Amino acid sequence: MRGLVLLCLLPAALSGMNFGWNGPASTTSGAEPSLVPVCNSGQESCGCCLMQKQINRMEQFFNYSVQELKTQLMNSKTNLNYMRASRSAFSVALNNANTLTCFGPFANDKPIIFKNIFINLGNNYNEQTGIFTAPRAGVYSFSISIYSLAASGKAQASCASLRVNGNEAAPLSERNGKDREDSSTAVAAVQLKAGDQVVASLLQGCDICDDVNHYSTFTGFLLYATDKA
Ligand SMILES: *[C@@H]1O[C@H](CO)[C@@H](O)[C@H](O)[C@H]1NC(C)=O
Repeated sequence: MRGLVLLCLLPAALSGMNFGWNGPASTTSGAEPSLVPVCNSGQESCGCCLMQKQINRMEQFFNYSVQELKTQLMNSKTNLNYMRASRSAFSVALNNANTLTCFGPFANDKPIIFKNIFINLGNNYNEQTGIFTAPRAGVYSFSISIYSLAASGKAQASCASLRVNGNEAAPLSERNGKDREDSSTAVAAVQLKAGDQVVASLLQGCDICDDVNHYSTFTGFLLYATDKA
């Protein structure tokens, strides 16, 4: 029986070569030797049938694996495209004035409108409102630097806060400094949902200043995306 099984395997193993049941060069070159007639030819070919079933099962498994790999590759490509489409980074400064120009003070807290755009990849920072809107869920990094110079004889007050949907995430405060100028910086990593709004808010009674040197800046970018909707 073992010999028979081995013989049955030969056509499969040698397909593509010029070998056949009757020795070398007896089959048409390139033609697939057919296993089916052998399997139908009698009881002694049962081993052959088992072998053919086995080969068939292996082929099914192979086909399944290839299909699975194709599916996973497709998923990876889709995810990669999605990540590329949701790239988001901005960096802006208060202004680009030749002489120091300040924003504030105001009677109420107010979003700081940073007018000088260095980069706004994904257009998620709105230069009319000063608001950044998260394009998708993820962990974002934000940093604010503020600077102010008090008029001589006046107390200096530079204060702002990073706000996520109106809630304070990182405060910056330099009130009543004895010196006339001050600057401070805050950096925060924040988990956001798609549509969350982040703003650098100028606190009531404070002001910040800037010129071509860009002392007052607001920067944010998507560190990595998460699944949270
Ligand atoms: C495997 O895939 C090939 C090509 O799609 C197909 O011709 C063959 O019948 C499949 N085999 C099995 C066992 O499903």
